[in-house]
Amino acid sequence: KPPIVVRDFANELGVKPFKLISELMEMGIFASINQSLEENVASELAAKHGFLLEIRHRGEGNKAKKKQQKKEEIDETGDLEHRPPCVCIMGHVDHGKTSLLDYIRKANVTKGEAGGITQHIGAYQIEHNDHKITFLDTPGHEAFNSMRARGADVTDIAILVVAADDGFKPQTDEALKFIQKSGVQPIVAINKIDTKGANVDKVKQQMQERGIASEDWGGQTICVEVSALKGTGIEDLLDMVLLQAEVLELQANPKKKSSGVVIEASVEVGRGPTATVIVQSGTLKVGDALVCGPASTKVKAMLDENGKQLKKAPPATPVRVIGWSTTPDCGAVYETVKNEKTAKSLAADNEHQMKAEMAAMEDEATAGMSPQEK
Ligand code: GTP
Ligand code: MG
Repeated sequence: KPPIVVRDFANELGVKPFKLISELMEMGIFASINQSLEENVASELAAKHGFLLEIRHRGEGNKAKKKQQKKEEIDETGDLEHRPPCVCIMGHVDHGKTSLLDYIRKANVTKGEAGGITQHIGAYQIEHNDHKITFLDTPGHEAFNSMRARGADVTDIAILVVAADDGFKPQTDEALKFIQKSGVQPIVAINKIDTKGANVDKVKQQMQERGIASEDWGGQTICVEVSALKGTGIEDLLDMVLLQAEVLELQANPKKKSSGVVIEASVEVGRGPTATVIVQSGTLKVGDALVCGPASTKVKAMLDENGKQLKKAPPATPVRVIGWSTTPDCGAVYETVKNEKTAKSLAADNEHQMKAEMAAMEDEATAGMSPQEK
């Protein structure tokens, strides 16, 4: 049976994907745009929008059919192409996530063209053995749990960092849970093997206790011993990432209108609101009109992690998009629309809707209270 993917399903229903995602949330389901839905869930959503779910077999794809009137079929399988993996690095505070990312990036920058490391960036792309890999950093503190939970959704491959001198910690287990919940196989990087207190066997034992025994302990989990400080084992780690990516046969359609996810956003002096996005599908181009919740933009400039201007960003590319109407939310989905006018109007609709939802939530929260309490 073909999967019912959130994005395509939203298309079929004629609603915006993030609208569908928020409806799913109301149903207690936390889905990403690329996730596939259970039939009963899809059926419920379809009914809500006045559609009847009709599952078709023989590769025709799933269609929601408006009673009597049918929508055009969209077959895009012919346009699917290989894309690089998006790799997320997770783990307990101070176990070396950023150091690992920095080492990988630095090694790559010095190998490639000039253009040093200037600032922190939440994502970047490297080349290893002529294959691209996109890396994502995730914030390391409890407060960022929700965002990290979303972070796992863009992720094809998750590297779980465990410090050899500290072993599994609460946030390691939490990250492991996220990883497993999002259906991703973790690659375990046992870091800090250069330290005096390093105990690799203890970590491997902890892996076994958690049902993710490493390959050399008779399990299935790829496990690489590394030192982010010295660079030991990093080549192996990258080899393993590419191996895993090959198994996953990652694909995307670069010809579509682009959509993707915001992984960080901020207001930059002299630049206004900027957002780093990961293109998940289609190719993002300068001149595209984007809407992302209450934020909109017509892309005037996109920068890669080295501050170099890009004209085009194919699937799995992280890019910094400059000049939004307002700062988009981390984890929010952006969509390409017809033109700037449409983007602005959709963003205004979204803002309006969000305000209404907020007001409704406040009403609900204060409903049982006396006037004084309000
Ligand atoms: P948060 O982002 O705060 O969660 O931390 P993190 O996981 O990103 O850890 P970070 O890379 O900041 O490293 C924490 C500390 O461990 C730093 O002082 C690093 O220099 C040190 N460190 C990281 N990797 C290694 C390693 O392989 N060996 C040794 N000896 N120290 C390391
Ligand atoms: Mg860090």
